[in-house]
Amino acid sequence: MSKTSMRLDRFLVLTGAAKSRSDAKKLLKTQAVTVNGTICRVSEQQVEPETDSVRMNGNELIYRQYRYFLLNKPDGVISATKDRISETVMALIPEADPEDFFPVGRLDKDTEGLLLVTNDGAFAHNLTSPSKKVPKTYLVHVNGDVSDEGISRLENGIEFSDYTTKPAKYEFLTKRDDITECLLTITEGHFHQVKRMFHAVGNDVIYLKRIAVGGLKLPEGLEPGQYREYTKEQLNEAIYQLD
Ligand code: URA
Repeated sequence: MSKTSMRLDRFLVLTGAAKSRSDAKKLLKTQAVTVNGTICRVSEQQVEPETDSVRMNGNELIYRQYRYFLLNKPDGVISATKDRISETVMALIPEADPEDFFPVGRLDKDTEGLLLVTNDGAFAHNLTSPSKKVPKTYLVHVNGDVSDEGISRLENGIEFSDYTTKPAKYEFLTKRDDITECLLTITEGHFHQVKRMFHAVGNDVIYLKRIAVGGLKLPEGLEPGQYREYTKEQLNEAIYQLD
């Protein structure tokens, strides 16, 4: 068996022909899939993605080694591949087998918004590496007013016992019912960072949603729990070409 060979059910998921391994199994039962011209019904069949010809209903399936999904993460799910208690973001993307795919960085369980999920480790590393300083913008609702001094501290750096925050950008949006709605853009990703920053200046975060990573914005109309697939080129172009 060569290093690049894989099970047929995995191949079908990675090519997008099936949404999940169980979906692949059902598909194989319909006798729609051929490997090098012979109908194959066996999920465990090994295929060589570079050289074997795998067809579904006669159409050649093109293997994509890496795939990229943008999820609008809803409140209440965990940014992890596995959790013993709660639902994870992976359950929302059946095409992304948690054995290969993972979320790029983390959002808290109660944070909503833009979360990328991929099986491309190098892409994820680039995006989360502190040295790349990719800005992440959050829509934040906090109780009360954010004071001028608070804004200055948010923007210039807040000293915590474990680290001092890097310069950030604060933008006031509106105030209603004693709740301030604002944007905060940070270039780091420490645990609970946005919540801790506002807490340090006297405001509690009551709603948090990531709306952009670099120039990549959470698409309008993508409801919480929904996702879209992109190519690496589309993502890199959007993320790194800031306006
Ligand atoms: N900052 C937080 O406090 N929580 C998140 O989920 C993301 C950034």
